[in-house]
Amino acid sequence: MKNIVLIGFMGSGKSKISREIGRRLKKEVIATDDLAEISEGMSIHEIFKAKGEAYFRDLEHSIIKDLASRQGIVIDCGGGVVLRKENLKLLKTNGIVFYLQATPEVIYQRIKHETHRPLLKTSDPLGCIKELYQQRLPLYSQADYTIDANAASIEGPITEILEKI
Ligand code: S3P
Repeated sequence: MKNIVLIGFMGSGKSKISREIGRRLKKEVIATDDLAEISEGMSIHEIFKAKGEAYFRDLEHSIIKDLASRQGIVIDCGGGVVLRKENLKLLKTNGIVFYLQATPEVIYQRIKHETHRPLLKTSDPLGCIKELYQQRLPLYSQADYTIDANAASIEGPITEILEKI
């Protein structure tokens, strides 16, 4: 049984949608960020601060390698998993990959009051989101399916994902 893999920018709704899909299909849901935090015993923010982004990306890659070999689970991926080309390749071998697409403006509105996103701790978070978004769009677009996640309700994306699998 194939895994259901959700990728997309921070704030695109991956975690909420993964949890709801897992609940409806009675499948285990695993977030790569949760495994990173458990393995290091600290928050994502602290890992970035103490060990740097490169260390986090290596850790994320080893987590993806483990998860990609499993079957029948829902994988909620951190927004940057696409930065390593091999990650998406691994995730696709055993899974159907869905890109939850939301515009930079929608993302900004959703996450502007949050403080735990290390990459957005800048004086111009919207500008930073736009820049990262442009860089990552070609990578996210390599998913098997692109799902419109701009609406406030998660019902639309969930229905679309369930129809596709
Ligand atoms: C990141 C997204 C975060 C987390 C880390 C880096 C990114 O995950 O992995 O802060 O590079 O986009 P979420 O997308 O779950 O917020």
